[in-house]
Amino acid sequence: MLFYLSDMPATRIEVTASAGTYPVIVGAGVLDGLESLLDAAGLGPQRIVVSSPTVWAMQGARVRPLLRGKRREPVLVPDGERSKTLQTVGRVYDALIRAAADRSVIIVALGGGVIGDLVGFAAATYLRGVRLVHVPTTLLAQVDSAIGGKVGVNHPLGKNLIGAFHPPRLVVADPLVLSTLPRREFRAGLYEVIKYGVIADPALFALVRTTRDALFAHEPGALESVIAPSCRIKAEIVSRDERESSLRRILNFGHTVGHALEAVTDYRRFRHGEAVAYGMMAAASLGARRGLTPVDAASAIKALILELGPLPPVSDLKATDVAAATRRDKKVVAGTLHFIAATRLGATTALTDVTEKELKQALREIGIR
Ligand SMILES: NC(=O)c1ccc[n+]([C@@H]2O[C@H](COP(=O)([O-])OP(=O)(O)OC[C@H]3O[C@@H](n4cnc5c(N)ncnc54)[C@H](O)[C@@H]3O)[C@@H](O)[C@H]2O)c1
Ligand SMILES: [Zn+2]
Repeated sequence: MLFYLSDMPATRIEVTASAGTYPVIVGAGVLDGLESLLDAAGLGPQRIVVSSPTVWAMQGARVRPLLRGKRREPVLVPDGERSKTLQTVGRVYDALIRAAADRSVIIVALGGGVIGDLVGFAAATYLRGVRLVHVPTTLLAQVDSAIGGKVGVNHPLGKNLIGAFHPPRLVVADPLVLSTLPRREFRAGLYEVIKYGVIADPALFALVRTTRDALFAHEPGALESVIAPSCRIKAEIVSRDERESSLRRILNFGHTVGHALEAVTDYRRFRHGEAVAYGMMAAASLGARRGLTPVDAASAIKALILELGPLPPVSDLKATDVAAATRRDKKVVAGTLHFIAATRLGATTALTDVTEKELKQALREIGIR
């Protein structure tokens, strides 16, 4: 395996943001070179690593070399959706102030999407903004949340309501860190990879199916082969539409119903990716009924999702409630719901005229009452 690791060059993907471009480095073992990557990008010398106790215990050793000089310990704050609050951001501010961090500080966020979003928000606001580096440690964070510059926290009255745009200076995605990720978390990220396949890359979609066992066995080469194209797709889309005026909406494939499922279950039942998995199956059903999504493509989407493993139940949920929740989605623009449907594997279209009846029918087809 080591032979393989040293033999495979890392993938470098550039993201264009209004604040400048930044690279996403993907590769098995790249984290071991984090210090040189930071040095090469002129990101130093004052660095503060922020992580969670769980992630630090499992993956901290990989970034230990960064902790030298004054800052010998990482700043650890709890992760998990319930901790993604302004209060936790406050703890990051406290640590930054105690460390006398000035404008030259580099904040390295080591963790999943929760750590990335909340530490990113702290970086966006501390001293009106300091430099941020993402080291995502979940599959979801590697292929999605670390790229694109959206940072933020939840409010007691709604998810991700407080936020900012604060693109990182560097993203380092090392598949080796996924070795300790619980299987369910891993699967949740894999559904987002499938999403990229459906919206932009049929070969990626096929690869998830054909390399499934290797992916679940955390084989670095297999992981890299799906992470790199996923990052490339996200990078290309956000580079062309940073603020989600149009193109970026295609990333919401499966998310209209997904967000609604999360909301009606109070964000407790599903991992985000699992709710999106149901959302993609609902979008496939709706698209097929309209004659937009070829029936075999719709079946392939459903089959691949179901093949990956169990999803939490939905049979106790009411289609009326889920449909109502889609209308409260943050992504409703001026009263119009933009529903993304697949026109084949690898291409989508946005629908603005989805009726309540159609939506409920699609929800029933995925097992909702
Ligand atoms: N900013 C964006 O564009 C964007 C996009 C998508 C999602 N998000 C956000 O991302 C969040 C979800 O992120 P997530 O799915 O990564 O969840 P998460 O950050 O809660 O991580 C999931 C769990 O995995 C653990 N963990 C993380 N890395 C690990 C590792 N290597 N080994 C073992 N355990 C590990 C964490 O401790 C946590 O318990 C949501 O809050 C969502 O809103 C943001
Ligand atoms: Zn998502």
